Amino acid sequence: MADEIRIRCLDPIGDREIQGLGDVLIDCVEGGASVSFMLPMTRAKADAFWRGAAASVARGERLVLAAEDPAGAIVGTVQIILAQPENQPHRGDLAKMLVHRRARRRGIGGALLAAAERSALAAGKSLLVLDTASDDAERLYGRGGWQRCGEIPDYALLPGGAPCATTIYFKFLRR
Ligand SMILES: CC(C)(COP(=O)(O)OP(=O)(O)OC[C@H]1O[C@@H](n2cnc3c(N)ncnc32)[C@H](O)[C@@H]1OP(=O)(O)O)[C@@H](O)C(=O)NCCC(=O)NCCS
Repeated sequence: MADEIRIRCLDPIGDREIQGLGDVLIDCVEGGASVSFMLPMTRAKADAFWRGAAASVARGERLVLAAEDPAGAIVGTVQIILAQPENQPHRGDLAKMLVHRRARRRGIGGALLAAAERSALAAGKSLLVLDTASDDAERLYGRGGWQRCGEIPDYALLPGGAPCATTIYFKFLRR
């Protein structure tokens, strides 16, 4: 499956992409992922988030990557936040790693992670940081060679309202 998937950096992000990215975000939140949003997850919240991300891409502040199936439908996404304080120009944040439930466990998350790391390196970053509240994602980052730093209890809420911890990871990128 991952062989048939095309991963590309979205720039610009238009209405078609916002719809497809919104489908993935809504599915992940409805599936219980702690990725900034609470239930009920609406199309309006998804649109507002991705329109903001699109504007941020246009300003050069972040990269948004998408995994597309052979029909061109977006089935996964991940972001690199490039814009950092002036004393951390070498660092980026990896964020919003999302794969639609119907496309999981086929290597798409791993392919997105590798592509995001390559894109961050190409953008001049040598250190990436992320936080995650997902066991599935923790295994993904562990396989990718990311270093686990530790866990912060009660960091956020799951979409249904229960508190959840977050785990911090980092990875140095090498050419
Ligand atoms: C975390 C997430 C992105 C992983 O995406 P994914 O596409 O399923 O990731 P992969 O397919 O690369 O790996 C998942 C598992 O499938 C396995 N796998 C990969 N290709 C496979 C294949 N062809 N056949 C069978 N299994 C396969 C991997 O070994 C891995 O196994 P694991 O259960 O031991 O970890 C996805 O679960 C998700 O979107 N979760 C909700 C959102 C979220 O919480 N994101 C994290 C925010 S930081």
